Amino acid sequence: MNSPANLNPRPFAPRYPQLGTGPVPVSSAVDPAFFELERERIFRGMWVNLILREEDLPKPGDYFVRYLEAQDASILVVRGDDGKLRAFHNVCTHRGNQLAEEGAGHCKGFQCNFHGWTFDTRGRLAFVTDEQRFHNLDKSALGLPAVHLDTWRGFIFVNLAKRPAQTLELAMAEFNQDLKPFPFEQMVLAGRYRYAVNANWKVTMNAFQESYHGAFVHKLSVGQCISPEDPYLAVQRIKLQENGNQSVSVHLAPHDLSPAEKLAFGFGATFTQGGEAAQAVPGTAQAQVRDWGFDLNIIFPYSRINVGAGWYYVDAFWPVAHDKTVYELAYYFPMPQRASEMISQEYSKIVLRDLSREDLATNEATHRSLRSGAIRQMMLSDQEIAVRHLYHTVAARCGKELAK
Ligand code: FES
Ligand SMILES: [Fe+2]
Repeated sequence: MNSPANLNPRPFAPRYPQLGTGPVPVSSAVDPAFFELERERIFRGMWVNLILREEDLPKPGDYFVRYLEAQDASILVVRGDDGKLRAFHNVCTHRGNQLAEEGAGHCKGFQCNFHGWTFDTRGRLAFVTDEQRFHNLDKSALGLPAVHLDTWRGFIFVNLAKRPAQTLELAMAEFNQDLKPFPFEQMVLAGRYRYAVNANWKVTMNAFQESYHGAFVHKLSVGQCISPEDPYLAVQRIKLQENGNQSVSVHLAPHDLSPAEKLAFGFGATFTQGGEAAQAVPGTAQAQVRDWGFDLNIIFPYSRINVGAGWYYVDAFWPVAHDKTVYELAYYFPMPQRASEMISQEYSKIVLRDLSREDLATNEATHRSLRSGAIRQMMLSDQEIAVRHLYHTVAARCGKELAK
């Protein structure tokens, strides 16, 4: 049987002629100066997906703190006593000490551990130690510096620009039609992983943007989902958006189930089951892809909301330095009602963990090789057009043009 990709081996390039078909330079992945350019032109003005949902902070006083390396800012998200979510710079307005520790928690307010200034859950300065010795202190003007916060289908985003160039809704672009109907609220957090990777964020992410590597990198973990008729898992659907967002659908061949798969598939939604066995899933490309497995949805530049039949996971390739990235993923399943569903979900958790580790396995060696200068460009097949699109979008945003 011929897969559609075999009938036409290069279906995607003609749809995106602006990306060209030539080699792509690797300098932007290894040059520290380029990372600074990205920080200035991309990271500082973007909507940052915090890999955090509104329901993670359900009660007034619930808060979350994260240092964003790419933006060089510590951000505090807190639900105020009025029930509203707000974001602030995590900075005391006295002399700039960091206010709250990294992580999540619950509090009535925030007291700075330097001199005891205290802020309420709406970010207002509530108490100044020995206030009478200050000169003309206007407490009402000394609240925590606000950061723009918005949510999209329950996901919390922040934007550090004084005036964001566009709304979050606009940044989500075609995902407002393609992904928005997905039933996110029916699922709960089932696990979270973080990995420190000594590689550029683009190099790290590139290993997650195509399935051309599947037969090699994932041979042991999901080799059974690759059929002899389609040995290199040729992607059937890729949708590249003008603003850099991308959607890549991965399919998984029906196969003889292993005993563990039989057990897992029988008791609930799983990661490698594919869409054929499941009901229609709104907000996915299930209907457009034969043996559909899941959609990888990249919100430019470095976070994703990936959806399958009865599960989703959110991840980010947090840029730390030109040669350092933190990969973080959090996955969500329906709340298990029975022990058998927990077993099924545990199976998915382990498969996804192993797959991610396999994807990360080549990053550091690839980065080292690129850094050596031994090769100055990469050769990309039609199957790797999402990789090409990323380099093109980043270059364009940084005022550079890639050769066609
Ligand atoms: S720096 Fe926070 S109270 Fe002084
Ligand atoms: Fe992979």
